Amino acid sequence: MNFNKLIRIYENPDLSGASEARRNCVTQTEATALEQNSQIEMRSDNAATHLANAQSERKEVPVKAEAPKIPVLSPDEGYAYFEGQIVPMSEAKVSVATHALHYGTACFEGIRGYWNEQQQQLYLLKLREHYERMADSWNVIRMKPNESIDDLCRITIELVKKHGYRQDVYVRPLAYKASRTIKLTLSALDDAITIYTFAMGNYLDISVGLSVCTSSWRRANSNAMPVRAKVTGAYINSSLAVDDANAAGFDEAILLTHEGTVSEASSCNIFLLRNGKLSTPALSEDILEGITRNALIDMVRDEFGMGVEERRIDRTELYSADEIFMCGTGVQVSPVTSVDHRPVRSGKPGPMTMKLQELYLSACRGENEKYKDWVTPVY
Ligand SMILES: Cc1ncc(COP(=O)(O)O)c(C=O)c1O
Repeated sequence: MNFNKLIRIYENPDLSGASEARRNCVTQTEATALEQNSQIEMRSDNAATHLANAQSERKEVPVKAEAPKIPVLSPDEGYAYFEGQIVPMSEAKVSVATHALHYGTACFEGIRGYWNEQQQQLYLLKLREHYERMADSWNVIRMKPNESIDDLCRITIELVKKHGYRQDVYVRPLAYKASRTIKLTLSALDDAITIYTFAMGNYLDISVGLSVCTSSWRRANSNAMPVRAKVTGAYINSSLAVDDANAAGFDEAILLTHEGTVSEASSCNIFLLRNGKLSTPALSEDILEGITRNALIDMVRDEFGMGVEERRIDRTELYSADEIFMCGTGVQVSPVTSVDHRPVRSGKPGPMTMKLQELYLSACRGENEKYKDWVTPVY
């Protein structure tokens, strides 16, 4: 596709008016989520205290409500794969002495499922790729679970099917050190796998831009922490950065490497378009090698005839980018419209980003034959 033509098609939409309406809608969704949270909390003994807390929290909901609206599950909602079988969630429990709970000795994945109404089908995105990466992660922390990658793909389909979902879903597999011991070791401990799943659509409004900042927290260095593995303990780094960013009114944080170059955001990779060239930090920049990142590199080549430069990116390059977007299972393809209070060009989502978002989501929903190998049907 001719890239200039693409820009012309996407230059005109009045995103500013629409974004105001969408932001209101986000705020309402957040209010509903808070309402649900407070209802769940009311089931506990000191319901009155919780309700008071929830009400005071509600008063503090910021106007620009961008906090992720990820569902909170009640203890008996749905099923989980646990100790070799699919059981009601209420039975999927671990001891407080579990090694992984104390030392972050676990690894995980996040997998999305997209409901296609027309085809009456639920598609799991890049299912095998996620379990392949999880196997790489568990190898780093010296785990040898009983389940193979094939087993995990099959179990996931079975688990999702059992819920009978007819909506978008999220699947969370976790491989963890299950032994009840305080011994600091990775060896000779019991390994276990659990998987649970819940209904989840967009938790961010991806039609409007994210306002991001560079974090004062540096991305953990791979000689200190296995950042290429999705190890739970390493996520304190992401949590510190995104929590600070949210407290300061930003939607996301960009972490720099110890050398001071751009690495990635708290749970997503970053791309920037500048002078007609698309770039993303190289694998050596302490990033998690995102499955979405890899998929988009292929998609940009196939759809726009463009290569992606995987290289070092300076922080200040972000300030002169024509477009920036984040990508990951969670955020999908999300435009960034300001960095450190500086607008990215017009301060509106960029045309290429929005076209890529559209192509990506259609591939995820199994609507594009060309990308049918990205998805696994559940039914
Ligand atoms: C730290 C980090 N970086 C990047 C990503 C994006 O990876 P993926 O596209 O595989 O979801 C994630 C999400 O898994 C992440 O946690």
